[in-house]
Amino acid sequence: MKVFVTGCCGYIGSHTCVELLEHGYEVIGLDNFSNSKRDVLDKIKEITGKEIKFYEGDMINKELLEKIFSENEINSVIDFAAFKSVGDSVSKPIEYYINNVSTVLVLISVMKKFNVKSLIFSSSATVYGEPKTFPITEEALIGGTTNPYGTSKLFVEKILNDLYNSDNEWKICIFRYFNPIGAHKSGLIGENPNGIPANLMPYICKVANQELECLNVFGNDYDTPDGTGVRDYIHIMDLAKAHVNGLNKLDNCSKGLFIYNLGTGKGYSVLEIVKTFEKVNNVKIPYKIAPRRSGDIATCYASADKALKELNWKTEFTLEDMCKDAYNFIQKNS
Ligand code: NAD
Ligand code: UFG
Repeated sequence: MKVFVTGCCGYIGSHTCVELLEHGYEVIGLDNFSNSKRDVLDKIKEITGKEIKFYEGDMINKELLEKIFSENEINSVIDFAAFKSVGDSVSKPIEYYINNVSTVLVLISVMKKFNVKSLIFSSSATVYGEPKTFPITEEALIGGTTNPYGTSKLFVEKILNDLYNSDNEWKICIFRYFNPIGAHKSGLIGENPNGIPANLMPYICKVANQELECLNVFGNDYDTPDGTGVRDYIHIMDLAKAHVNGLNKLDNCSKGLFIYNLGTGKGYSVLEIVKTFEKVNNVKIPYKIAPRRSGDIATCYASADKALKELNWKTEFTLEDMCKDAYNFIQKNS
């Protein structure tokens, strides 16, 4: 089985490539390194002993995609290539809509031309906007997104629905990720954003590593048990494995558009994350309470029942594993 992975060198793409290679898939990868580094390819090889057939370039480049599809007999595509910073998307909406929506239109038009109609798309829990009930099931209303990043994911979900309605030979799996954190246990690949991290776990890791002084906890007056934001953190390797189950699902069906939440079904507050991180890594994380971050919601955690039932997928790693593996990666890579 040959899988084309866009954004293969990014955080989720790289861990998924490891899982795919270890499950015997041949991987053809594309990345333009807009948010990753080339050495990830060597790290993937070091972990798996196998190589990705790699193409450097931009997914907006139709000629390049046509070349990739004509040179490889691709069975399925997993699309990770996108921009992902909520804050950036507010100041750069055009760039976000081009990179997160237009590129998908190019990809699916080339897939159609080459009659490859099996796709896994990386969506996000942000499509639920401000959810009303918990845990969030896939049937919950989507919409009400508050930034161009979230809206770009919503648009692509709609486009994929329209595509499927127009031609139900397509097999499409939309994964709505909750909050992936952690790293591969080798510490060779993980998440290490440039500059000051916007997300909680990379920020905590930099405080632990004394690269940043103190964590700002964005609000302690939410309607949650300790007043700080609650999220569904999922170990990156559990998330990566779900893509193997997703491909199995698509291989074994003749048509369909499937939507799955990928989370653990449990919510943890910011302060619970800090405490767990301190305990498992034996470090102190100085923090101060700061004002709420604009656009944040109080609580967001998934019902993971549908993925368990239909994909036979369940998470294995604990919050302790997530904190340990995240810090292990940062210590080995700074
Ligand atoms: P990432 O930025 O680490 O990886 C994305 C990769 O795609 C990078 O290597 C980047 O260089 C590449 N890329 C971006 N635009 C490209 C283009 N036009 N052509 C070729 N390569 C391109 O992000 P990630 O965390 O691995 O996220 C992967 C996907 O999952 C994204 O679609 C993201 O929106 C989605 N997602 C991520 C999270 C999260 O918390 N990490 C949550 C929900 C959804
Ligand atoms: N937080 C802090 N201090 C920080 C960073 C975050 O207190 O320095 C808090 C936030 O207020 C929130 C929680 O930690 O309560 C998690 O924040 P993240 O920025 O790590 O994650 P978000 O839930 O805001 O968003 C992430 C990704 C989105 C994705 C979403 C899916 O950034 O791209 O998860 O649920 F869509």
